Amino acid sequence: MSSATMERQEAAKLPEGDVVRILLEQHARIRDLFADVKSAQGEQKKQAFDQLRALLAVHETAEEMIVRPAAKKTAGEKEAEARNREEEEANQVLAELEKMDIPGAEFDARIAAFEKSVIDHAEHEEQEEFPALREGCTEDELQRMGTRLKLTEKLAPTHPHPTAAGSPAAQWMTGPFASMVDRVKDALSS
Ligand SMILES: [Fe+2]
Ligand SMILES: [Fe+2]
Repeated sequence: MSSATMERQEAAKLPEGDVVRILLEQHARIRDLFADVKSAQGEQKKQAFDQLRALLAVHETAEEMIVRPAAKKTAGEKEAEARNREEEEANQVLAELEKMDIPGAEFDARIAAFEKSVIDHAEHEEQEEFPALREGCTEDELQRMGTRLKLTEKLAPTHPHPTAAGSPAAQWMTGPFASMVDRVKDALSS
């Protein structure tokens, strides 16, 4: 799928609460946030990057913990491992990006390259993993994974309404990426 609009259209065809539906909606939002980070200036650019970091922490960690075990059985071991590896690499790039000055020429160059790798990764998931999940899992299993995914969404403002300054969500979003990932992992293991 080559755009956020197409991802939202595909998502809308699936049942409410289905894990693939939620993941497709998150992919669309990730694309929108990359566009915001690239086009915004000053403080707004920083805020868009914080939102993107938070959504990526939720999305990629939840995929690793909820989706991958099922994908190993449906899409195959090799496919699941390749996606886990890409997510691991993305985490390292994010850890470097968050140390850079925003706005800055180096940041702009790195974010463009990072966007390309995140989108390539998401398109692989959409082409291989998501169809295999929908094929190989029962509707009940897809709904159960969706329910767990939704738990982690509560941690981060993945929807476009602004977060109140000083709220726990706002504080969480400005912390380091690695600690966001830890929080998502804790929420999913408890
Ligand atoms: Fe992913
Ligand atoms: Fe994804």
